[in-house]
Amino acid sequence: MNSSESERPWHGGDLNLARIRFGHQQLIDFSANMNPLGPPPSVWRALTEHLPDIVHYPDPYARELCQALAEHLNISPANLILGNGSVELIYLLPRLASFKRAALPAPGFSEYDYAVRLTSTQCTYLYQTPPDYSWDLDRLKIAVAEGGLIFLCNPNNPTGALLSRDALNDLLEVLPSSALLIMDEAFIDFVDRAEEITLIPQAIKDPRILVLGSLTKFFSLPGLRLGYLVGSPDLINRLASLLPPWNINMLAQVAGVASLQDKEFIVRSRTFMTQTRQQLYELLADIPGLNPLPPTANFIFCHLSPELPNAPKVVELMGQRGFLLRDCSNYRGLDDHCLRLAVRRQEDNLAMAAALREVMARGM
Ligand SMILES: Cc1ncc(COP(=O)(O)O)c(C=O)c1O
Repeated sequence: MNSSESERPWHGGDLNLARIRFGHQQLIDFSANMNPLGPPPSVWRALTEHLPDIVHYPDPYARELCQALAEHLNISPANLILGNGSVELIYLLPRLASFKRAALPAPGFSEYDYAVRLTSTQCTYLYQTPPDYSWDLDRLKIAVAEGGLIFLCNPNNPTGALLSRDALNDLLEVLPSSALLIMDEAFIDFVDRAEEITLIPQAIKDPRILVLGSLTKFFSLPGLRLGYLVGSPDLINRLASLLPPWNINMLAQVAGVASLQDKEFIVRSRTFMTQTRQQLYELLADIPGLNPLPPTANFIFCHLSPELPNAPKVVELMGQRGFLLRDCSNYRGLDDHCLRLAVRRQEDNLAMAAALREVMARGM
């Protein structure tokens, strides 16, 4: 481990480390939230076909991918920049202007915090509180009205808290003209009727708003790194000037195009996820003390009852049984009794829920 590794936020999905820790080569990963149906079959074909092209530089402007993504999102390519994962773009945002203040969700994706703290911006936190971890809209409105650089995530990772269209309209009404709201929609493709809550139609014409998106989760491409920002053309141009050239590698470009063109995969994945997350939620809700929150995307947040073993212990016991879960105790605003579980295929979900029931029963 180098020194920066011990200081940076840690995340789910570190399979190499988990395999060593638990001595299991075949761990089933519920700690990172990928679409278990992906990647689309067309991606494998495109990658195989284009492997010989690694001897060339990739298209520096990823033109074909920008065009495909713009069509998918129903916007112009001028409203779009691509990142080496959406996380690359998160690190760009605090450099766009000098913000006195940033407001960040808590709990929330920890990279916002890390990226903002690299600048001299002062951080304040927008808390979602137990037992349901939903947003307190009145408090949120007051915080948004104060302006600065504001990160929100809809649906929020790790809680799944969802801001409705009405709530979003209320927030936009009080958002000052000098503020910049980043709406992270990394998981929105899994949400039912996502078209009603995405801020993309606002972001393309309103310089107060940028929407952050990712192909990582829905198309199951975390290893290729593909994210994007949607905004008004001026803002997008300023952001583009901060990016290094060739930030999207060639294999990511061809996989992105193939993914976005696979309409059958997109429809099938949405139907699958709506059904499967509900089935997993019902299984988990039946385990005493687990207290899962109703899911909105492709993961389920659980706040374990205090008399039960804590999340690190549950992760340990489940790891020994071959299932990797996400202990959420390193999220700001959470204690050590919070877990997050990805929704996987039904056979994996059943096996994991059975093991979890056993682990929890032992601890009671
Ligand atoms: C809410 C949220 N935003 C952004 C990211 C970064 O995703 P990527 O860089 O793979 O696009 C993650 C990853 O877990 C996330 O949970």
